[in-house]
Amino acid sequence: MTSSSSMASAPLFLAVLLLPLGTSLAQLSTDFYSSSCPNVFDIIKPVVKSAISAERRIGASILRLFFHDCFVNGCDGSILLDDTPNFRGEKTAAPNNNSVRGFNIIDKIKTQVEKACPGVVSCADILAIAARDSVVILGGPDWNVKLGRRDSRTANFSAANTDIPPPTSNLSRLIANFSSQGLSVKDMVALSGGHTIGKARCTSFRGHIYNDTNINFRFAKTRQANCPRRVGSQDRNLAPLDQRSERVFNNDYFKNLVEHKGLLHSDQELFNNVPTDSRVQKYATSTTAFFADFVTGMIKMGDIKPLTASNGEIRNNCRKVN
Ligand code: HEM
Repeated sequence: MTSSSSMASAPLFLAVLLLPLGTSLAQLSTDFYSSSCPNVFDIIKPVVKSAISAERRIGASILRLFFHDCFVNGCDGSILLDDTPNFRGEKTAAPNNNSVRGFNIIDKIKTQVEKACPGVVSCADILAIAARDSVVILGGPDWNVKLGRRDSRTANFSAANTDIPPPTSNLSRLIANFSSQGLSVKDMVALSGGHTIGKARCTSFRGHIYNDTNINFRFAKTRQANCPRRVGSQDRNLAPLDQRSERVFNNDYFKNLVEHKGLLHSDQELFNNVPTDSRVQKYATSTTAFFADFVTGMIKMGDIKPLTASNGEIRNNCRKVN
C-alpha cells in the first residue's frame, strides 16, 4: 500500500473504529433486488392481501413477527426457525409462545418468491416487506422498505426472553429496552401505535384490568367479562388492542390511551402523567404526525443489526437453516 492510499483510508479506518458496537458497515438499500428479483414486491403483496382477506387479524400478526424478529439479535429471520430435537429456536420463548402467528403466510410467500428468483431473497427481507404491506393494506402509511438482509443460521431463545419487552413493563423499562436497540423515546411511542391492530390474550392484560387504577372503570369491566381474574382455561380469550377500530391501521390507539382505555399495562404507561403524555396527545389528534413517526420508527427498526455481505445465508425454507 502506498503512503497516499493509506492516508486516504485513514478516515474510513477511523469511522469504523467509531461505529457503535453491532453496527454493520454494509448498508441496506431499497433497490437491492431491482435486478436480481425485480418483481419481488408484486409477488409478495397479493399473497399478503389474500391472507388478510381470509383473516383480517393476520396483518397484525405479520407486523408483530417483524418486531419480534428485529428485537432479537437484529432483523435476521431468526424468529422463523422451527425448533428441532437438537435446536431450540425463539418460537417457544415467553413473548412468542402460543402467541406469535403468521408463519404459514411467510412460507407461502417464500414458495412464490423462490419460484421466480431461486436463492435470492432472504426470509428476513420477506418479513420486512410483508409487514409493510400489511400496514398499507389495513389503511396505514406506505414507505420504501430497505433490503439486503440475510438470514441467520441461529436463533436465540434466551435473548427472545430478555429483549422483547413484556406487557408488564413500566415506562422506564420500555424506554431502556428500545434505547438498547438504538430506538428513541419518540420511536418507542410511535411504534407502540402498532397496537392499533390485532389482539391480545387475557393472560397479557389480566393484571391491568384488575389491579391498575389508571384505567377507565367501564372499559375495565367490559374486558373483565371475557377475562376472569382466576388463571385458567380462559387465559387465551382474546380482546382487541384497539377497542375503537381493531381492523384499521389508524391513530385510534392513542385516542384510547387519552381516555385510559389502553388494553395492556405497558400501553397505558405511555399516558399516565408522564413525559410521553404530550406525544400521545399529539398522535391522538394528528394521524399525519403518527404515520410519519411510525414510518421513521419502522425504517430504524428494520435497520437493527442486519446480516449483510457474506454473513448469514439466503434460506431455502424460512423454517430451517440450509
Ligand atoms: C412497546 C412495547 C411492546 C409491548 C410490551 C408489546 C406487547 C404485546 C403483547 C403482550 C401483545 C399480545 C400478545 C398476546 O397476548 O398473544 C402484543 C400484540 C401485538 N403487538 Fe405488541 N408490544 C410492544 C410493541 C409493539 C411494536 C413495536 C409493534 C409493531 C410495530 C407491535 C405490534 C403488535 C401487534 C400488531 C400485535 C397483535 C398481534 C396479533 O393480533 O396477532 N407491538 N404486543
